[in-house]
Amino acid sequence: MARYLYLLIFTMPICISHETSSAVDTMCTEITVNKSYSCEGLGLTEIPEKLPVTTEILDFSFNLLPSLQNSTFSKLKDLLSLDLTRCQINWVYEGAFHNNNHLHTIVLTGNLLLFLSDTAFVGPQSLKQLVLTQTGISTLSFVPMTNLDNLDTLILGSNHISSLQLPPTFPTQNLKYLDFQMNNIRTITVEDVSVLQKTSNITLIFKGNDILHIEPGAFQSSFYSLDFGGCTNIPSILVGIRNSSAHTLWLGTFDDVEKETYISPDVLQGLCNITVKDLYLQLRHFKNLNAATFHCMTKLQKLDLTHTHISALPPDISGMKVLTELILNRNFFKHLCDTSAAAFPSLTHLHLKGNSQTLQLGSGCLQKLAKLQHLDLSHSHVESSDCCNEALNGLSSLRYLNLSYNTKLHVHDVLFKEGTNLELLDIAFTQLHISTSQGPFRNLHLLQVLNLSSSHINTSIQHLFQGLENLMLLDLSQNIFESGIVPKNKLFQQLSSLEVLILASCELTAIDDQAFHILQKLRYIDLSHNKLIAFSADAFSNHKSIYINFAHNRVQIIPRDKLVSLPSHSIINLSYNPLKCTCSNIGLITWYKQNLDKIEDPEETTCSEPKSLAGAQLSTVTVSCGISTTGIIAVVLGILSCVAIFLWSVHCFRQSYQQI
Ligand SMILES: *[C@@H]1O[C@H](CO)[C@@H](O)[C@H](O)[C@H]1NC(C)=O
Ligand SMILES: *[C@@H]1O[C@H](CO)[C@@H](O)[C@H](O)[C@H]1NC(C)=O
Ligand SMILES: *[C@@H]1O[C@H](CO)[C@@H](O)[C@H](O)[C@H]1NC(C)=O
Ligand SMILES: *[C@@H]1O[C@H](CO)[C@@H](O)[C@H](O)[C@H]1NC(C)=O
Ligand SMILES: *[C@@H]1O[C@H](CO)[C@@H](O)[C@H](O)[C@H]1NC(C)=O
Ligand SMILES: *[C@@H]1O[C@H](CO)[C@@H](O)[C@H](O)[C@H]1NC(C)=O
Ligand SMILES: *[C@@H]1O[C@H](CO)[C@@H](O)[C@H](O)[C@H]1NC(C)=O
Ligand SMILES: *[C@@H]1O[C@H](CO)[C@@H](O)[C@H](O)[C@H]1NC(C)=O
Repeated sequence: MARYLYLLIFTMPICISHETSSAVDTMCTEITVNKSYSCEGLGLTEIPEKLPVTTEILDFSFNLLPSLQNSTFSKLKDLLSLDLTRCQINWVYEGAFHNNNHLHTIVLTGNLLLFLSDTAFVGPQSLKQLVLTQTGISTLSFVPMTNLDNLDTLILGSNHISSLQLPPTFPTQNLKYLDFQMNNIRTITVEDVSVLQKTSNITLIFKGNDILHIEPGAFQSSFYSLDFGGCTNIPSILVGIRNSSAHTLWLGTFDDVEKETYISPDVLQGLCNITVKDLYLQLRHFKNLNAATFHCMTKLQKLDLTHTHISALPPDISGMKVLTELILNRNFFKHLCDTSAAAFPSLTHLHLKGNSQTLQLGSGCLQKLAKLQHLDLSHSHVESSDCCNEALNGLSSLRYLNLSYNTKLHVHDVLFKEGTNLELLDIAFTQLHISTSQGPFRNLHLLQVLNLSSSHINTSIQHLFQGLENLMLLDLSQNIFESGIVPKNKLFQQLSSLEVLILASCELTAIDDQAFHILQKLRYIDLSHNKLIAFSADAFSNHKSIYINFAHNRVQIIPRDKLVSLPSHSIINLSYNPLKCTCSNIGLITWYKQNLDKIEDPEETTCSEPKSLAGAQLSTVTVSCGISTTGIIAVVLGILSCVAIFLWSVHCFRQSYQQI
């Protein structure tokens, strides 16, 4: 990180000679040495002289450049990408980029362009991206088409274009992405867009234009994506694009679109004359939703009906044999059976999250979906008194199951009998009541990820994780352990593949020294936001390398021997602990300075005591705990007095001896 954060000071000669206060105006941030710079929002009126000529990427947004001349960027010959967002540019003169042969991206967003010279974009050999969002353009003839042949992306969103009239010189050769969103386009004629017949596989965006009429057959190409989001006259759009093909067709709308027309079965009949794979109808309202509505959707592979105000799909839908993905998020289903799942026998992905009311799971509603791999029922108010064997009956191919953010699930035996292929199970933020002494997951032998965060799970059940020998990630954060202690071995005994264990916010006060010894493959453990007083290094002593997050605990002192027993390749996060910076903690302080490469977040690893050092970074404090000067004087005096006493006694002894 730090490498990218150098601040370079570019001081313009003019500024030095006149005033010193504008130095701040001229500071560009170096992102990559000699290559990438950001001068965003510095109020600059020209390109700083000190910017290296080797600069390739320049963010010059939010400055002041009323006009672009042929000299403006002429020094930056290596420029590849130039962002000029909101620089109050009004005039772009001849050859503004004439010297920037390698330039491939020009962003002119948010400049009210009054003049674009015919040769404005001449120079770059391969200009690929031109962004003209919010530039006040009202007609395409304003944009010079000279030298745009290599363009793959042209963005003209949020302008005042009302008539498309694409000129015959419009660059179609390499075009991949053409964006006209939020303009005033109401009608499109065959002539307007005939030049687009030369394109293939492009993405064309018209969302936010209230298109009322498209001349029948105006568009006749093979598109990658067509976006008519928010347009009200769907039948006219479908007639306009008849005989076209598109991988993705966007016919959804937005919350803030005032006019809402209802989609009745005949509105979508035009789909019969178009080849579409993925269809999006977000936020539309249906009228008389029945099997006929789906009559022209039989070739769809993906159908998105997010927030379409539906409470059931018609049971007699037929022919949707190739649909593999169905999105029913944010609707009003009462019962899982109301999805008429049997009508979509090839489904591999079913999303039903954020259902607005309690979703009854019922039994076997999805049992015809033998190919289903991915099921998302999160945020759907699911409550089940006997979860979830009956509900998931038949789903033997399921690999991903998301039941997070639901209400309450009671498990009496195994959670999902046919779940032998399950790889990911997310039950986070859903109350889980387990009334079996055997493991509820014991048949999920392929499970790799289990999220039980905040699930009120009873961690005292000894065989809770029985059978999970392939589990790699276990999230138990925000659950409570008996007496706040992670016990030795038993709970995790079978998790021989576990690599990541999250025990954050579990109100833990202690960890058994051998709690994790069995987890040979553990390489990441999060114990943050607990009430741990002791740093339990011994618990990790038999791992080769490990990441330990011990942040936000109550550790004050770590004895040196604990630190020495840490695995040699470890990274520790000790931030937000009330560490003592006194002699009692000299072991940690010395070790810490020698092992800064093992410390994450040193900025927040600070002293709490003594008061004089509170808040100081541990890496910066010096604590001297040798013998003090007074001590030394005392010792010297002591020795001297011993010597004096000795000499005196020898003297006395001699005298008494002589007297004899
Ligand atoms: C940056 O450019 C200067 C001057 O051309 C050169 O001395 C220096 O080595 C370059 N640094 C890098 C990292 O390329
Ligand atoms: C740049 O523009 C000026 C004035 O408009 C003109 O005199 C000069 O010849 C131009 N330079 C180049 C290299 O085009
Ligand atoms: C069509 O365009 C999309 C999106 O730009 C791209 O991912 C895809 O590879 C392209 N397909 C072909 C056949 O070029
Ligand atoms: C569309 O294709 C059909 C045949 O698939 C053809 O009869 C019809 O003329 C085409 N329509 C247009 C407008 O080209
Ligand atoms: C399909 O296009 C043909 C002409 O190309 C037209 O006669 C027919 O009505 C169209 N069908 C639908 C459902 O729009
Ligand atoms: C499960 O769904 C929730 C809510 O929609 C989402 O936040 C979470 O990321 C999903 N879990 C996985 C593993 O994708
Ligand atoms: C549960 O954990 C998995 C794996 O870390 C994660 O992808 C998912 O988003 C988590 N679920 C929720 C609801 O946060
Ligand atoms: C250290 O852990 C805390 C608490 O989990 C977290 O907020 C912080 O981002 C971590 N530091 C780094 C550098 O990841």
